Amino acid sequence: MRKLLVTGGAGFIGSNFVHHVISHSDDHVTVLDKLTYAGNRASLEGLPEDRLTFVQGDIADAALVDELFSAADAVVHFAAESHNDNSLHDPRPFLDTNIIGTYTLLEAARRHDTRLHHISTDEVYGDLELDDPARFTETTPYNPSSPYSSTKAGSDLLVRAWVRSFGVRATISNCSNNYGPYQHVEKFIPRQITNVIRGVRPRLYGKGENVRDWIHADDHSSAVLTILDKGALGETYLIGADGEKSNKEVVELILTTMGVSADAYDHVTDRAGHDLRYAIDSTRLRDELGWRPAYADFEAGIAATIDWYRANEDWWAPSKDATEAFYATKGQ
Ligand code: NAD
Ligand code: DAU
Repeated sequence: MRKLLVTGGAGFIGSNFVHHVISHSDDHVTVLDKLTYAGNRASLEGLPEDRLTFVQGDIADAALVDELFSAADAVVHFAAESHNDNSLHDPRPFLDTNIIGTYTLLEAARRHDTRLHHISTDEVYGDLELDDPARFTETTPYNPSSPYSSTKAGSDLLVRAWVRSFGVRATISNCSNNYGPYQHVEKFIPRQITNVIRGVRPRLYGKGENVRDWIHADDHSSAVLTILDKGALGETYLIGADGEKSNKEVVELILTTMGVSADAYDHVTDRAGHDLRYAIDSTRLRDELGWRPAYADFEAGIAATIDWYRANEDWWAPSKDATEAFYATKGQ
């Protein structure tokens, strides 16, 4: 039985990963999570108590991190400030968690020679033109646009440096946009679903032409477990499921799936520096490690996600009003 430490395990993708690991392995999971506004202990409810330990704390707390690393066989690092819009408003927590927090984990991995998998994003590569046939690969140069993506890029570079300079046993993955259960209502898909549930019209930034490459969070989890088990140390793997869609297409799909007219949305103030298009080429992960996504049908995945938000209003309602109050101050 492997002892896994999962940082950020009460967040969206981290909690999906913990559910995935517990149902697909014998691993014991310890979650280290600060429970910021984005963390929710309820996302881990229902999991067997003998398989899961929850520790509330900060990844930048070196003494706590050291103690937890000394008991772990491997660490999967999801914890981050993750929302671009917040990073445009107040970048400081992004530096503290994404840079200093990752540095703190790397130093502990170095001291204890602990296997570490670092979770990152396709946003480190900047954006692509809408009509560009290119997609991001492991060799695309870094070119981040926002305070969020620049701190994620910085954290990736720290991992690479600790691998090369100190022999830390780490891998990195850069994934595209995730959707699924337990995602905070500040993010695009849950924001629009919960708006429609409340009878509010969805909000599309700018013209809505921006393209994101959607993957179900459970497919992200299976890819991370594959890299943890079979990935080559020191290497980077891109994770994606060929799910490119414009924001306008996604909003129209949500509306029609929820029984509302496809044009019942509003265009609002665009995001500053808004990346145009992301697209992932995950050939390396598929060819070298044999990974395949299981959620091929985006329409079915969105319908299931809508059902989840309809059935779990107790989970998201406490965050909805504060989230919308923040957006209202920016005309969004
Ligand atoms: P999230 O905001 O939903 O969750 C982040 C979690 O980290 C929360 O539980 C929060 O409490 C915790 N946390 C924040 N600061 C912390 C700290 N200092 N110490 C301990 N815990 C802390 O984020 P998410 O969308 O689940 O993203 C998880 C990871 O995946 C991030 O590293 C993000 O960059 C990456 N990622 C996200 C996406 C996506 O589409 N959401 C895509 C690719 C990569
Ligand atoms: O690509 C991976 C990244 O995906 C992750 O690294 C980030 O952590 C994650 O938040 C996500 O970043 P995005 O900025 O792409 O996601 P977000 O859900 O904020 O927005 C998705 C798209 O929808 C983006 O083009 C902005 C747009 N949008 C967003 C909101 C909240 C709207 O049009 N309206 C909205 O109300």
